[in-house]
Amino acid sequence: MFRLSTFWSVLVLLAVAVEETTSLLGSGPHITDVNILLPPKMTNSVEYRLQGSDGCFKWSWDHHDILSVLPEYNSSNHCSTSARLRSIAPYSGRKETAVYATDVHSGIVIRCKVFIDIFSRIQIFHNSIKLDLDGLATLRVRAFDNEVAVEDNVFSSLVGLQFMWQLMPGTDGTHHLVHVPLKDSPLSDCGGLCGDLEIQIVLENSGVFSDLYVVKGTEIGHEKVSVHLLEPEFMDMADNIVLTVAEAMSLEPPSPVYVLIGAAFQYSLKVIRGNIPQVVTLPSLHHRWSVSNPSVAEVDAMMGVTRALSLGETSVIVEDTRVAGHIQVSTLNVVLPDTLYLYISPLSGSGDPVEGTEAIPSVARWYVISGRQYLIQMKVFSQGPGAQEIYITENDDFKLFDNQSEYWKTFLVLDDIMLKHGWRNSRVLKATSQGMGKLSASLTYFSGFQDTKEALKVVQEIMVCNRVKLSLDRINDMSQSILLPWAPGVYQEVELKATGGCAKASSDYKWFSSDMATVSISASGTVQARKPGKTTVKVVSVFDSFNYDEVVIEVSIPSSMVMLQNFHVETVVGSHLQAAVTMKASNGAYFYKCDAFSSLVNWKSGSESFVVVNATGKMPFSENLETAQRHTSVHGPPCSWRHLYASGPGRTMLHATLSKESQHFDHSFHGPIVLKASLRIAAYSPLMVHQAGDGSQFGGYWFNLGQAETGNQLVNLDELYLAPGTNMDVSLVGGPEPWDGGVDYIETYEISNDRHAHAKEGVHVHLISGSSGSLYEILCQELGTFNLVFKRGNLVGDDHPLPTISEVSLSLTCSFPSSIALLVDEPVNKREVIQTANQADRGPGRIRVTPITVANGQTIRIAAVGISNTGEAFANSSSLCMSWELGSCEGLAYLDDAYGSQRSKSSWERFLVLQNESGLS
Ligand SMILES: *[C@@H]1O[C@H](CO)[C@@H](O)[C@H](O)[C@H]1NC(C)=O
Ligand SMILES: *[C@@H]1O[C@H](CO)[C@@H](O)[C@H](O)[C@H]1NC(C)=O
Ligand SMILES: *[C@@H]1O[C@H](CO)[C@@H](O)[C@H](O)[C@H]1NC(C)=O
Ligand SMILES: *[C@@H]1O[C@H](CO)[C@@H](O)[C@H](O)[C@H]1NC(C)=O
Ligand SMILES: *[C@@H]1O[C@H](CO)[C@@H](O)[C@H](O)[C@H]1NC(C)=O
Repeated sequence: MFRLSTFWSVLVLLAVAVEETTSLLGSGPHITDVNILLPPKMTNSVEYRLQGSDGCFKWSWDHHDILSVLPEYNSSNHCSTSARLRSIAPYSGRKETAVYATDVHSGIVIRCKVFIDIFSRIQIFHNSIKLDLDGLATLRVRAFDNEVAVEDNVFSSLVGLQFMWQLMPGTDGTHHLVHVPLKDSPLSDCGGLCGDLEIQIVLENSGVFSDLYVVKGTEIGHEKVSVHLLEPEFMDMADNIVLTVAEAMSLEPPSPVYVLIGAAFQYSLKVIRGNIPQVVTLPSLHHRWSVSNPSVAEVDAMMGVTRALSLGETSVIVEDTRVAGHIQVSTLNVVLPDTLYLYISPLSGSGDPVEGTEAIPSVARWYVISGRQYLIQMKVFSQGPGAQEIYITENDDFKLFDNQSEYWKTFLVLDDIMLKHGWRNSRVLKATSQGMGKLSASLTYFSGFQDTKEALKVVQEIMVCNRVKLSLDRINDMSQSILLPWAPGVYQEVELKATGGCAKASSDYKWFSSDMATVSISASGTVQARKPGKTTVKVVSVFDSFNYDEVVIEVSIPSSMVMLQNFHVETVVGSHLQAAVTMKASNGAYFYKCDAFSSLVNWKSGSESFVVVNATGKMPFSENLETAQRHTSVHGPPCSWRHLYASGPGRTMLHATLSKESQHFDHSFHGPIVLKASLRIAAYSPLMVHQAGDGSQFGGYWFNLGQAETGNQLVNLDELYLAPGTNMDVSLVGGPEPWDGGVDYIETYEISNDRHAHAKEGVHVHLISGSSGSLYEILCQELGTFNLVFKRGNLVGDDHPLPTISEVSLSLTCSFPSSIALLVDEPVNKREVIQTANQADRGPGRIRVTPITVANGQTIRIAAVGISNTGEAFANSSSLCMSWELGSCEGLAYLDDAYGSQRSKSSWERFLVLQNESGLS
């Protein structure tokens, strides 16, 4: 087409110019053509654009009388990368000239040889003379010179010349083609720079045609297309071709098809109409089927049903009878099978394939996940190195033994899903429960010799495993994420546990962290927070990489610390309180675990009444796992905890402080962490009930509250004996003191009788004065034994999370004394004296054996005390009337009633006047 000598000279020039670059297409200037053939000046001129690149060109040329070169500039950088070449002289013999493109930066010169000659002939160029119905064809005119007789040179461009194109219908007068205007065609110019198409469109718009012509097939058949040059001198320059319009056909299964002997199937024929494939319903008027080798296979001429007869290769041909020679061919290979494989691939919940997964071929054992669905595909391959998948037809003896296992179910794939994904010979397996079973498939085929049959078989073991699940301690953890605290040098650890996946040992799981620098994970599943950030930790069954679970672990610096509101804040002196702190992240969320910070927290009590005892190491509320989990999920886990011993009554603040200095080597962390939390705590004296009245004058024992208080001899009153109709005051001391601010303080009592029933009737209790030492009057109304329980304490409030109620009980016996003790010459009825009197030996008539000796000539006090059948002294017996009698005392003594009624409040105390006689009475 062009002269070799010119080509070589330019090549050498280029090679020298770009010597230092390794490749001609490396850096440095380039140009699209190095020799050009142009026509001379004619009615319509041809413009040729010479395109350079990777440079900024200055254009020069040899013969300014025959050639015009018009540089084109890139408006943005004043560089020229192209020039328009045009002949400016009419034909006067063949001419040779040259254009030089000089790169202004490198100085490199590219020479482009230009020839000018006239046309000897033109020709229509095409890529195919057959086009699809509704398809397009582009036709282009090429022109040639006649420099040498054997091989003509082709002109570089005809753009700008006018041509006459014509479509000539056949004898029946129907058109099979239409012209498509260039502007409506999908053709594009080379980015708007080349400009050829632009010129061609302008020509077409002005009512003539250019060298480029686009047609579209509208009817099946043939049509002639002719062209001639519209140039006065060259009116005889013409060419024509015949184009065939046919319907594009495709066959399924796609060629080549491999089948077994005896296989029978029907091809599916599709034609493209309006760019959309459509299945042709067979039989069709216009399509005929045939085979090239009838000994290998036969095909039904109308239906396309193909039957494989013997080993070998043949073509199956379908012909469109409307267009002679328009055929589609499928290569059919009849082969022997070599291997049978089963494949498994996971399906999504909707039954579609899972994105990014590949089918797993038969291996020793497949692991599947209970509850999931899988696609089982059976594939047969031919012999030989280039083993091909064999197309299995309904005629082939192919079976899957899906003996319904108790661990899975298999079922056929729905037709529409099978078509959608092109799945053939497949089943859906739905794993239902953990266990192992087998699946087998077999293929029986003709070996080709005397119709003998052989079989291929495959057995596949399938193990159904439960889904791998991470088990988190936290009950309420729906979010499947774990938040862990971090501070420089403090690496919180959490041991993760997994279940499922047919794991027998912990080594049957593999653990992964998406970012080991943030959260590391050990082989046994212990995570460690290394720095703030977010990571996904995944646990995978070693048997099945699809069987996994994952959790997002977020690590952040704690931003606040609070006291856990799970414990009592008040306790009785001599016992322990428990306290613990938890921490929160900046978003207010509790951490999953934070005990790594335990030793960083310093605990201090504001008073000596409380002693901070070293933690036992055992976490609080670890006794009851369920309670612990509930507490933890609501209030956060304990990070640090202490026991506090209450050594004396009082109230104080408990302070917990966490401080962590920043470390120099850690640049990501700014400033030290200091977090504080405090808690108000209290200790109280035990709640006690004391007697408040003195029974000396009432047939009861003596008691002096004031003396008992000062002597620090107050003991709890456990038992009280009263005669019906008498009363006794008791006071309540100790127990929790009122907590302030929204915490209700209660003080109550309950009475129950010996049958454990509430007894409102028999005893009357009423509050005389209420303060810290409440005074109650207890009135005995009916006979019986009663239990009085006094309670006082604080209910729940803001800084008082749990109620603290103290109780004390008093046993009250309401009965008549079974005996009395007589006290002589005692100022008061002391208990010891009563006991002595009670235990004194007595003779007949209950007269004491040992007489009491008193000095004569004075007034002495005599008193009686009620004694219960168990020998206990009454506290008040005054409702009973005591009558006194003096026996054989004439002259010795008399009762001074006047004095007694003045001094005494009941008949149980009398005064005896002794006369100046001595004797026994
Ligand atoms: C013009 O030059 C600029 C800068 O060198 C370049 O980016 C752009 O592609 C050029 N435009 C054309 C049409 O060559
Ligand atoms: C399935 O059942 C068939 C017939 O009962 C039996 O021949 C075959 O061995 C069984 N296959 C498996 C894998 O249990
Ligand atoms: C508490 O622990 C500290 C430090 O471990 C130790 O010095 C101290 O003796 C301990 N006190 C008690 C009462 O165990
Ligand atoms: C004993 O009981 C009587 C009768 O109820 C009463 O008047 C008296 O005050 C009581 N004595 C004491 C010390 O309470
Ligand atoms: C009894 O005797 C004493 C001295 O012996 C005497 O002081 C007193 O008055 C006498 N009392 C009576 C009631 O006689």
